Amino acid sequence: MQGLQGKNALVTGASGGIGGATAMRLAKEGIGLLLTDLDQQALDEVAATCRAEGVDVETMTADVRDDGQVDAVVAAHVAKFGSLDILANIAGVQRWSHTHEHSTEDFRLMLDVNIGGTFFFSRAALPHLLETRGCIINTASTTSFDGLAYSVVYSATKGAVLMLTKSMALEYAERGVRVNAVAPGGIDTGMSNDITFPEGIDYKLVMRQMSLLNGMQPPSVIAGVVAFLASDDASHITGETILVDGAAIA
Ligand SMILES: NC(=O)c1ccc[n+]([C@@H]2O[C@H](COP(=O)([O-])OP(=O)(O)OC[C@H]3O[C@@H](n4cnc5c(N)ncnc54)[C@H](O)[C@@H]3O)[C@@H](O)[C@H]2O)c1
Repeated sequence: MQGLQGKNALVTGASGGIGGATAMRLAKEGIGLLLTDLDQQALDEVAATCRAEGVDVETMTADVRDDGQVDAVVAAHVAKFGSLDILANIAGVQRWSHTHEHSTEDFRLMLDVNIGGTFFFSRAALPHLLETRGCIINTASTTSFDGLAYSVVYSATKGAVLMLTKSMALEYAERGVRVNAVAPGGIDTGMSNDITFPEGIDYKLVMRQMSLLNGMQPPSVIAGVVAFLASDDASHITGETILVDGAAIA
């Protein structure tokens, strides 16, 4: 892909399935990395595999719900690399529940991580991205486009990520900052494997989005699209959310 070699990227959710695969793919493209997530040990493991590709890798734990911690991560990135070229907002959480039994705690958790984290990192990164004419890649979902029973708040947050993407793209296009999103479906990660469905659900309502034509796919299929969106090959793409779901909701 064109224009990636020698750039730098900040990746959130970097010790998760999609975040880790994205870090690895960006490292292979010759991109210096700051990797952030909640757990230092897991970050160290991802960082070690990325460093084997010969790129500079820094790690920093932070909770994306805390705007002070987010600002500190972006400042640390710029202190390390002197600039910021690419922000990949990948951290996310999902909870399942009958809507009439949904806890307020889980409601706030998903809003704060999925919307708040994406917004806080974008807000902190934009002044630096304006200097580099850089880009943001957010993580939406099939549920940004299609309702999801028993995970209605998650679905709503991913709809919000789609609109954050479009609106920020519109606001910054003329100043050279591109904002896109990838919308995964059926990716083999902790999030998709550790689902605890509530009792008494109608499975056909959730299987709609999970009956994939080509089965569960590894997170590398998302990482490749993130790398493409970050590259100069995508120089005329902004405000776009690319579904990568094996036609699950086609
Ligand atoms: N796996 C799928 O099929 C799928 C489908 C659609 C969308 N997504 C989205 O992809 C993204 C990555 O998910 P994944 O499948 O790799 O799951 P994952 O659970 O492996 O990764 C999510 C990462 O986010 C981090 N995180 C959660 N809360 C955080 C917080 N408060 N502060 C900092 N980091 C936090 C976790 O520690 C974890 O490493 C998420 O935004 C998710 O919603 C995944």
